[in-house]
Amino acid sequence: MRSIDTGLDMDGDDLGSRSALPERFADLLARLPRSAWTNTRLAPMAEQWLAVHDWFRGTLGDMIEAGRVRAEGRCDDQAYGAYILPRLRQFIDHLELHHRLETESAFPELVTADPELESARALLDRDHVQLEERLLEIQAAAQAFNSSLLSDESSEAFAMQLIASVAQSERPLLRHLADEEDLVIPHLTLGNKKNISGA
Ligand SMILES: [Fe+2]
Ligand SMILES: [Fe+2]
Repeated sequence: MRSIDTGLDMDGDDLGSRSALPERFADLLARLPRSAWTNTRLAPMAEQWLAVHDWFRGTLGDMIEAGRVRAEGRCDDQAYGAYILPRLRQFIDHLELHHRLETESAFPELVTADPELESARALLDRDHVQLEERLLEIQAAAQAFNSSLLSDESSEAFAMQLIASVAQSERPLLRHLADEEDLVIPHLTLGNKKNISGA
């Protein structure tokens, strides 16, 4: 397995503060801008990539909404736990597998097909490292909440911590998914698609 450089070597790359892809990717983005996707026959792999990402967006949105319901007192901690804990487990397992397939297989194959994607691969791999830290925080909050549900003590503070932790993952994950799509979908649709696998 290739080691990942976790250092941020370019201004504007950091997922925690990035609001758009850095300017050096402008030429890549211009090949097939997102605004043209609806009028373009995207490659099957591109459609599959987008569908997987939409599942992450939808599931995260559902979990954040469940947190809102609990925070507003419209359900109790037992009901929130019964909803959130199994979905969170599935979400984290699926996202970690997705990132592993991209980092170990799909991204290297993209770069082999088009070496100009190397800078994009490096940025997206660093995103994965930062997102994994978020997932570990959520996992810890979920375990603490689950333990509190099984104890005699109040679980409310642990529920609120989990709700906050899940909500805080929204901005960086949505940023990563959108930026990855902007970098990858044009290549999958216009470039050499042979031997691209994974995701
Ligand atoms: Fe990714
Ligand atoms: Fe992805």
